[in-house]
Amino acid sequence: MKNPTIIAIDGPAASGKSTIAEKLAKELNYLYLDTGVMYRAVTLAGLQRLPTLDDEEAVVRLSEQVDIDIRQPTKDDGRMYDVLLDGEDVTWAIRSAEVEAHVSQVSAYPGVRAAMTAQQRRIGRRGRVIMAGRDIGTVVFPEAELKIFMVASPEERARRRHIENLRRGLKSDYNEILNAMIKRDQIDSTRAVAPLRPAEDAHIIDTDGLSIDEVVERVKSLMV
Ligand code: CDP
Repeated sequence: MKNPTIIAIDGPAASGKSTIAEKLAKELNYLYLDTGVMYRAVTLAGLQRLPTLDDEEAVVRLSEQVDIDIRQPTKDDGRMYDVLLDGEDVTWAIRSAEVEAHVSQVSAYPGVRAAMTAQQRRIGRRGRVIMAGRDIGTVVFPEAELKIFMVASPEERARRRHIENLRRGLKSDYNEILNAMIKRDQIDSTRAVAPLRPAEDAHIIDTDGLSIDEVVERVKSLMV
């Protein structure tokens, strides 16, 4: 199909969704929305402002109140976009190990998902959007014309994240990343609401051993 209104790209952690979605959005002149950023921002807000993230009601209330904005990048430091949490630049803060360790707990709360899904639908309705996440093809936009589910082995995904960290000058431990990622995938896949799984009509792309360009070409070949 040509010019789909929405392209949904789902998949587990570090499966390459962001890289592919960003490249594709540039080439096709679509807006790219990385929905993981929103769950990460809520998690950061909770860590900063609440005594505990175990208080589901408080976390849900917070998710309904915070203002999360994703804008054109204002700094040339490797970022794809600016992330603002109530006006504050949290672009890198949402990538911390602490956020990473808690984001799956926060995103499993149904009330948090309801708040984020509503925002994502609002943005998606404008059209020409590539949305990346875990539940875009299944829950947020089940009517999306093109759905991709990206997979790669845990080792390959941990290797990619490790290299990404080193390139950014961050401390990084491969085994720690691998273990944290497996744990996050496990929580994301088994949660009651909007678990990580491919939609029935999703095209599954295994990116092990494929270059970025090869994956982009494969997605484009589904659009003719
Ligand atoms: O970049 P990476 O794949 O490591 O993670 P992300 O896409 O930034 O997502 C971070 C976390 O947010 C995931 O592990 C999920 O727990 C949650 N998430 C979600 O529940 N639903 C989405 N649509 C996107 C992210």
